[in-house]
Amino acid sequence: MSLPGDLAGPARIDQFIRVDHAGEYGATQIYRGQLAVLGRGPKGDILRHMQAQEQVHLDTFKRLIAERRVRPTALLPLWHVAGFALGAVTAAMGERAAMACTVAVEEAIDEHYRAQSDVLPPEESALRDTIESFRAEELEHRDIGLAHDAEQAPGYRAMRQLIRWGCKAAIAVSERI
Ligand SMILES: [Fe+2]
Ligand SMILES: [Fe+2]
Repeated sequence: MSLPGDLAGPARIDQFIRVDHAGEYGATQIYRGQLAVLGRGPKGDILRHMQAQEQVHLDTFKRLIAERRVRPTALLPLWHVAGFALGAVTAAMGERAAMACTVAVEEAIDEHYRAQSDVLPPEESALRDTIESFRAEELEHRDIGLAHDAEQAPGYRAMRQLIRWGCKAAIAVSERI
């Protein structure tokens, strides 16, 4: 465990890259699942816009995993299925539920990226810039979700809490496993 204010060391930064790669992988799968249900509907274009940005995030962390020889999480097959399922199930509940899923996920990722950004040492400024630019796009996704009536989804508050909790659990295990 590190204390607040401690800067992250190399092993911790490997964990950051491992979990960020896992998260962006899951994000592309969530949008893929949503598009499988809603791709031909009126929300198709905005979902494709968000998915395209997630693909850039994923490709960047794929490159960092390779460059820095970080072991990817062993749980990618799980995030493949769970991400797609989360996207498809929320989309099947309706457009607003899909947007509520986006709000919940992106809020969790914003917190996650902010926490990483806060403890990266000065020599990792390039990584911090990457994380901050992705964080800005995650916040854009959250705002898109809110603009598309996420809060009017049936059971919004419960769904948001459940998905946030799931994201945090996924983050905790993907750092280590
Ligand atoms: Fe992302
Ligand atoms: Fe995102």
